[in-house]
Amino acid sequence: MKISVIGAGYVGLTTAACLAQIGHDVFCGEKDPEKLARLRSGKLPIFEPHLDTVIDAACKAGRLRFGSTEEAVEWGVAIFICVGTPPLPNGDADLHAIEAVASIIAKRATGYRLIVEKSTVPVQTGAQLRRHLGGHRTRSLDYDVASNPEFLREGTSVEDFLHPDRIVVGVESARAADMLREIYHPIIDQRIACPLHADCPPRKAPRFLVTDTNSSELIKHASNSFLAMKISFINMVSDLCEAAGADINKVAEGIGLDPRIGPSFLQPGIGFGGFCFPKDLQAFVRIAEKFGCDFTLLKEVERINQKRVDLMVEKIKTELWVLRGKKLCVLGLAFKPNTDDIRFAPALSIIRRLQTEGAQIQAYDPKAMDRAMQEIPDITYCQNVYEAAQNAAAVVLLTEWKEFQNLDWERLSGLVDRPLIIDGRNCLSRDVVASHGFEYVGLGGISAAAQIPAAVVNG
Ligand code: UDX
Repeated sequence: MKISVIGAGYVGLTTAACLAQIGHDVFCGEKDPEKLARLRSGKLPIFEPHLDTVIDAACKAGRLRFGSTEEAVEWGVAIFICVGTPPLPNGDADLHAIEAVASIIAKRATGYRLIVEKSTVPVQTGAQLRRHLGGHRTRSLDYDVASNPEFLREGTSVEDFLHPDRIVVGVESARAADMLREIYHPIIDQRIACPLHADCPPRKAPRFLVTDTNSSELIKHASNSFLAMKISFINMVSDLCEAAGADINKVAEGIGLDPRIGPSFLQPGIGFGGFCFPKDLQAFVRIAEKFGCDFTLLKEVERINQKRVDLMVEKIKTELWVLRGKKLCVLGLAFKPNTDDIRFAPALSIIRRLQTEGAQIQAYDPKAMDRAMQEIPDITYCQNVYEAAQNAAAVVLLTEWKEFQNLDWERLSGLVDRPLIIDGRNCLSRDVVASHGFEYVGLGGISAAAQIPAAVVNG
């Protein structure tokens, strides 16, 4: 099918690339001329595993091209709107980019078009889109508006698109539902040429959930808010473990064994960041207020999350006393591993706080340093972990990149002034680092005293 994707950000590029990968003829429209020029020369504006190879293959196969928004609007019978909906100062989602695309569609599209909102939008945006198109369209445009929220995670977006748990569509007509089912049928049947796994293991087919647009729009905000709530919950319990002398890793494991709870998103840490959870949470609270619903619960989720930065800074001060003039080795800047994204990254908030305390930051991140330099230019960016550890009073881990879990601890202990690790993600093994002479400080009460011998644990 000829499909257009408007907006070449995380969601737009992944959607365009993967729809081309499963056989559709895709035109990706981008209004930023610089970004468009880079894309046309094969350079991606973001780091996302596998995305470059999938885009390259799709372009070579003639199933993907890049151009202006106007060109894209005239191309596809289905038009996926994947533009940004950043937060406004009051927390509402900024929908002006969506409206701008709708105006171009109203002016330039003819014949039947299925217009699909894939950006994260507040409930009733689809209804507003319908009204806007109805009021501005040319006589020759016949259309449906549908919602099809994405649940992609940065760092695994290609995998999440091609092997989703569910595909949610919000429609007001059977025609729209049928078209979306046809668009996604290779993924629904899991009969795709998977670019990630040579022999792609058979998987459970994703659920194709058809509902109305309002419900579909709410599913997205509610899903992200629920996951954020789970993280704030485990961080709250982590603080109690610390105070009561229990082991958060074991507690998380214990509660996660209940299939009604599940083990995922129970990793304590310095808080959630990224371009989705913080803004979706705020937008969801604002939406609820507009409809007179009390979402105090989610305000608390946000408050607990913001306090993680304070907690981590206090933990570092407890270990190091005066920070003024001390060198700190900071490992990890991205809001999570496998991405170069630093938007709302807790690591940057912590670094800014440590700077105000007079600490000298020697930072390293495998992918996110270029972006971090634009945000915080006045710290030392290092070529690798060992350079960052030079004469450090402590090693502070803020993003759980895999490479930080397999370091040469011997070499590291020879570089630091004090062999102290403060693990803001509980991703290192206390026993391993302790066996190399490091003091280990994690989250959630896993103190040396509390450790019972492995022989007891494993029986
Ligand atoms: C999220 C949703 O997962 C995805 O479905 C949606 O489409 C977009 O938003 P993403 O922002 O890429 O994806 O990140 P995610 O992997 O969900 O992590 C979000 C934040 O929570 C990160 O800062 C991560 O470090 C933190 N996190 C995650 C925890 O602190 N603990 C956990 O157990 C899991």
